[in-house]
Amino acid sequence: MDCMDNTKKGVKVSDNSEIISNGKTETMLCNNVKEKYDIVGSKSSLLLEERKSNATFERFLQSVISKFNEETSDNTSLSQLNLKIGFIGAGKMAQAICKGFIISKLIKAENVSASSTGMNTSNVESMKNIGVRMANSNADVMHSSDIIIIAVKPHIVSTVLQEINCIEMKSKLFVSVAAGITLEKIEELLPKNTRAIRVMPNTPCLVQCGASVCSPGSSATKEDCDMIVKLMSSIGICHVAPERLLNGVTGLSGSGPAYVFQMVEAMSDGGVKQGLPRDLATKLAAQTLMGAAKMVLETGLHPGALKDAVTSPGGTTISGLHELEKGGLRAALMCAVEAAAKRASELSHS
Ligand SMILES: NC(=O)c1ccc[n+]([C@@H]2O[C@H](COP(=O)([O-])OP(=O)(O)OC[C@H]3O[C@@H](n4cnc5c(N)ncnc54)[C@H](OP(=O)(O)O)[C@@H]3O)[C@@H](O)[C@H]2O)c1
Repeated sequence: MDCMDNTKKGVKVSDNSEIISNGKTETMLCNNVKEKYDIVGSKSSLLLEERKSNATFERFLQSVISKFNEETSDNTSLSQLNLKIGFIGAGKMAQAICKGFIISKLIKAENVSASSTGMNTSNVESMKNIGVRMANSNADVMHSSDIIIIAVKPHIVSTVLQEINCIEMKSKLFVSVAAGITLEKIEELLPKNTRAIRVMPNTPCLVQCGASVCSPGSSATKEDCDMIVKLMSSIGICHVAPERLLNGVTGLSGSGPAYVFQMVEAMSDGGVKQGLPRDLATKLAAQTLMGAAKMVLETGLHPGALKDAVTSPGGTTISGLHELEKGGLRAALMCAVEAAAKRASELSHS
């Protein structure tokens, strides 16, 4: 992949190809898988085509195994650093990320603190239940952390940053997950040369299936960026991309889980209409979405090709697909991503 220095202390952000992959089952690996598979037209005809020699496949498997080993040992070394992480905000996103870090054993619960207004007692209880120390104030979180994750609603970010600005923060790294709040704005509100990184995560971080993209600020180092990619990769996938793409990322993966929840609900309703019990219908709908998504990620094949492979002439699936076309599913999803990205852009200008 062609990368270029973004002039920011050696942090590399790709240009046209936009993203730098972090690892796990990433695109580069998937492309190798893709070379091994081919679609040949009829229903369920995902066939392994022996175009490549076994040696190539062996090499591919070896690369997956060594990548896994490399990541596992890196995770161990990161946990040994005893990093102290603080969350300003203890709501849905903070809990998703925080639980993910702790479950993945990358961070010890006793090294995590969080602050909130304290008004929402269920947030406080949830954090305490996973062993996180609830701090008395945002300043307390600041003092006791190496990495501070700003996880309040976007309109609260400036108040919070102004409030903590008086604290010595040379040694700290700031991470903001707030939609639409630019690095320029964040850096403006913090002392000069403060290291900051913007991350757009999503709530599936909670089940270690998150999709995150991060953009380094002007003073963040390559090590800072690598560390955040490693942390976020422990709870899903994480890519580095230029900040100008983050509104699009917000509209797609940041807000995306909600679109998918609606799809699961609607498909489940369809099953119930056909007489299935609700529990079974919801499970089947969710598992079907997860399975289909996994096939896209693991084969690296175009979703259209996978769709064609399960759509036989005159069959049941094409009848269902025709209804989706009539209902404008594709256009509706494209519009949803566009509308959410536009809203993120509005937030960054407000
Ligand atoms: N939710 C998502 O799917 C998602 C996805 C990507 C990015 N994000 C971003 O994540 C951020 C948080 O969203 P969320 O969904 O987690 O919101 P949320 O559930 O409403 O949580 C916000 C948290 O901020 C706390 N808070 C409010 N004012 C505060 C202050 N002055 N000092 C300290 N804490 C304060 C709240 O305290 P209480 O607990 O007392 O109410 C709450 O714990 C947003 O900026 C959003 O753009 C969210």
